[in-house]
Amino acid sequence: MDESKDETRNSQKKRAKPEKIGGYITSRKIGQGAMGDIWLCEDPSLCRMVIVKQMQPSLRGYEDLVQRFNRESVLLAALHHPNIVHPFALWQERTGKLALAMEYVDGKTFREILDMQKQPPLWVTLYLIHEILQTLICVHRHQIVHRDLKPSNMMVEKNGRVRLLDFGIARDANPGQDMTLPGSVLGTAAYMSPEQVMGHTATYASDLFSLGIIACEMVMGKNPFRGENMEMTSQCILNLKLRSSHFPQGTPRKLRNWILKALEKRPERRFTSTKEATDEFAKIMEGLPRQLDIPMAKWMSAVFSSEPIPQAPVNSKSRALKIGLITGGILGIALGAFIMKFIA
Ligand SMILES: Nc1ncnc2c1ncn2[C@@H]1O[C@H](COP(=O)(O)OP(=O)(O)O)[C@@H](O)[C@H]1O
Ligand SMILES: [Mg+2]
Repeated sequence: MDESKDETRNSQKKRAKPEKIGGYITSRKIGQGAMGDIWLCEDPSLCRMVIVKQMQPSLRGYEDLVQRFNRESVLLAALHHPNIVHPFALWQERTGKLALAMEYVDGKTFREILDMQKQPPLWVTLYLIHEILQTLICVHRHQIVHRDLKPSNMMVEKNGRVRLLDFGIARDANPGQDMTLPGSVLGTAAYMSPEQVMGHTATYASDLFSLGIIACEMVMGKNPFRGENMEMTSQCILNLKLRSSHFPQGTPRKLRNWILKALEKRPERRFTSTKEATDEFAKIMEGLPRQLDIPMAKWMSAVFSSEPIPQAPVNSKSRALKIGLITGGILGIALGAFIMKFIA
């Protein structure tokens, strides 16, 4: 009994806030993930905040996890995309803990945003999904499958930029490079593809399915695949067939069709490539301005401070074109009438 108390005390002590991790001064713990703790730290040499992800050596299957953690860092270092969080360093501490230092994203996760606004305005949904799709083009081009796309692994910075996090269970698309622990299903069931639920290999199309669920949640205000427990969720992922009529009124037809295609149960019936999925999605965005980061930043700031929500951005070019066409039309009719009168 006493021994177990001692053990608990020791492990609490071990997990208490360290003063420093590597050369970084610990500020506060911002998360406790599957693999370990996530700390917000200060880098005194460059006067900036960084995130340090630490991994507990006490975890079951530590060696496999070390491999995955190593892999996450190497993958991240190879990816150059403005929406991907960049790693700074990876090292092993004297305690045996692995630590990964990376860019600090000052913003909110999609999860936090959706908890505040279950059904964000259409333009917000379109912007967020399109940004992730563009990021996925880069990730998939590097032959990497993320495998754990979900709202808590995506963030929006205060300046409106979207960032993709947590490549912890990502894997090389080449066979034989699987970092999955034997017999375990990794990831979160509520956003998993049917093939992942069945324990099959995840492909690029699996990432598109997960993104389809996220888009669906944003449009419907809830994730229709989420059951009361993991088993029920898995059953929904495998069997629930959504139809166009399930979407709320006012959901554009092109968006419904895009989501339904991403959510095809059989991977080969989804989009043929991430580029195709992105191009198709871009068609739904016609009429929106190209740059939506600033409106996004303003919208998010309003949502989290309970200020009045700003109006949806409109494409000034298409608005000018519409006004031009209408004015031109009216002038044309007037001129025609005048000429007819003159001839008569
Ligand atoms: N670079 C980062 N900047 C800011 N917050 C982060 C960063 N990385 C992770 N977080 C926060 O920590 C949470 C968990 O991080 P994540 O990388 O998803 O690890 P895991 O899911 O394996 O625990 C995220 O949902 C986010 O809230
Ligand atoms: Mg995560």
